Amino acid sequence: MKYLIGIDVGTSGTKTALFDENGEKMASHTAEYPLYQPKNGYAEQNPFDWWQATCEGLQKVVEKSGIDKNDIAGIGLSGQMHGLVMLDENGEVLRKSIIWCDQRTAKECEEITERCGLDTLMRITASPALTGFTASKILWVRNNEPDIYAKCKHILLPKDYIRYMLTGEFATDVSDASGMQLLDIAKRNWSQEILDLLDIPAEWLGKVYESCEVSGTINENGSKATGIPVGVPVVGGAGDNAAAAVGCGVVRDGRAFTTIGTSGVVFAHTSEMSVDPQGRCHTFCTAVPGAWHVMGVTQAAGLSLKWYKDNFCDTELAEAEAAGKNVYALLDEKAAEIPIGCDRLIYMPYLMGERTPHLDPNARGIFFGLSAMHTRAHLLRAVMEGVTFSLKDCLSLFGGLGVKVDSMMACGGGGSSALWRQMLADIFGCTVKQCVSNEGGALGAAILAGVGAGLYPSVEEACDKIISVKGEQPADAANTSRYAQFYEIYSNLYDTVKPFCAKLALL
Ligand code: XUL
Repeated sequence: MKYLIGIDVGTSGTKTALFDENGEKMASHTAEYPLYQPKNGYAEQNPFDWWQATCEGLQKVVEKSGIDKNDIAGIGLSGQMHGLVMLDENGEVLRKSIIWCDQRTAKECEEITERCGLDTLMRITASPALTGFTASKILWVRNNEPDIYAKCKHILLPKDYIRYMLTGEFATDVSDASGMQLLDIAKRNWSQEILDLLDIPAEWLGKVYESCEVSGTINENGSKATGIPVGVPVVGGAGDNAAAAVGCGVVRDGRAFTTIGTSGVVFAHTSEMSVDPQGRCHTFCTAVPGAWHVMGVTQAAGLSLKWYKDNFCDTELAEAEAAGKNVYALLDEKAAEIPIGCDRLIYMPYLMGERTPHLDPNARGIFFGLSAMHTRAHLLRAVMEGVTFSLKDCLSLFGGLGVKVDSMMACGGGGSSALWRQMLADIFGCTVKQCVSNEGGALGAAILAGVGAGLYPSVEEACDKIISVKGEQPADAANTSRYAQFYEIYSNLYDTVKPFCAKLALL
């Protein structure tokens, strides 16, 4: 029996999971680390924390599973997209990583648009300049920390820093590179035209691989730090969402999934490249060679619930601990007691600005309709509903792009909540399915490793063999029409507050 490892470098922690060649999970380990928010709108992490978490994870999964290390056939990497890792000529990290949800780069986005022109950006990168994407973060360092910029010799994404530490290779994959705003999305390689216009040296960027291609092998240093034998292949891997798509079988036209992790995503596979002319959702290369996906992003999805729990739920935290229960399971119970629409309370989840569909780094969260009758449980359910309304905003864009959705899976932390899955089904107005495995990105990365190592002939065939559906939750028609009344108000609120969000940002 051969084994595969998937490493998912997330925002709250890195999950490492070891699977046998049939996709059965043998062991997994998650190591958490902090998110630094030194200013409103800033978000940074320490790449060394990701590396420590990876070393810990690799050691633990091998130990827990009891397998012979020499039977590890391959490793796949997945991770939070867009984060900027800058290294000097010796491969040393130059500053903390400015990660995907950081919103400090509005000025640099204007600079990118001036240098490239919106038409060129849309034609090549399939997106207007976005604060979340890596290019604006690179320019921010150039404009604000010239000493650091002067020392830069390599630019990597979060999971690609882990690849460098494991293999010594500077490389990335097409799906993750799509979120840098430096890739030609149609040609699946760096755009020299964009790099020239932005004056970013091409030699700073790693080699671009398809997600299932082998990008390098574990070297002496990587082996010493992790215990994984020298020579084990590491494949290109994928950005977290493209990897999660593989992990839930979204690898053919008509298939889609929604995930509620720190961010929330609605993602649909497409074999024809299709771009929203207003750039409200992303078109990226996907982990299946030669295919793309469209994807809408809610910046603060699980992050909204975590924020609410951390700041307002001490009582529930204590109650859960006393009962030996998972706090999120307890929060689900409390939210389930509140009616749809939360007795007329609506939450807008813009704690970290918003991407789809507003593309506004200054957007901020709102509870609308607060009344003296509302309890903390009302606010809690409103958070879950508001996040789901925001995901509905994402899904609503796909029809206009000619991307058909016949099947919707739910995954991520939120996808494991029956209450949240039912909310998704009711608000989307479609059946929502769940995978047997909830390993998402880590399983997807491991499957990609299996293709790279020659265990499976293709990503699609690997998914056919490994992925199975556990259950389906159909939409309840009465709930769908009740939610629609609140969604109508929700979807009009943002335009009303937009100018005031911009003013507030200047105070
Ligand atoms: C995708 C995005 C997030 C991050 C973090 O564009 O920004 O989903 O990958 O999970």
